[in-house]
Amino acid sequence: MTYFLKNTLTITITIYIIIIISSSMLHPSTGAFSEEVSEVISMKRMEKTTHLHFFFHDIHSGKSPTAIKIAGTPDASLFGDTYMMDNVLTEGQNASSKAVGKAQGMYAFAAKNEPALLMVVNYDFTRGEFNGSSISVLGRNPVTDDVREMPIVGGSGRFRYANGYALAHTVWFDLKTGDAIVEYNVYVKHY
Ligand SMILES: *[C@@H]1O[C@H](CO)[C@@H](O)[C@H](O)[C@H]1NC(C)=O
Ligand SMILES: *[C@@H]1O[C@H](CO)[C@@H](O)[C@H](O)[C@H]1NC(C)=O
Repeated sequence: MTYFLKNTLTITITIYIIIIISSSMLHPSTGAFSEEVSEVISMKRMEKTTHLHFFFHDIHSGKSPTAIKIAGTPDASLFGDTYMMDNVLTEGQNASSKAVGKAQGMYAFAAKNEPALLMVVNYDFTRGEFNGSSISVLGRNPVTDDVREMPIVGGSGRFRYANGYALAHTVWFDLKTGDAIVEYNVYVKHY
């Protein structure tokens, strides 16, 4: 009996009425840090999709690097190399543009024959309505691909119950230092 009731509840919640699917979903690059792109309504609660757009600064060089190597092998192979980061996220590509949060977590070279990373990262936001909210990403990042897709596996604050995906695209890379700027377009479903 209890089991049946649980099933009924699940079915009720998944009957949604689609209210808005805005055209901005088709044109992701508006330059804004965040915008709501769709809204799905049930009788009990509302599910939203928020589009976040920002730039990620992976800095290994200088006096105050934000990404440091914490493990790996001494040989030339990248396989196993692991980095901890506290990377700044900004609204524009320029590092001195407005900060919108930090990417805190780890990435590791997880493939023997290609530069494909395992990403385990919390994106913690500090701007506007998402100040204090975060999303968690766990995914595969083959860094030489033009666009990499990584799953959002959860979130906190305004992003509680989050799921969705992040699209990462490298816009600048310094081969000598390893410093990089990566553009992110994130689509996060939450309530
Ligand atoms: C970044 O912005 C600063 C200050 O506005 C400016 O001096 C600098 O030239 C900009 N850098 C780039 C690469 O556009
Ligand atoms: C974000 O929240 C913190 C802590 O509540 C607060 O100190 C800070 O001023 C807020 N920042 C913005 C940009 O609203």
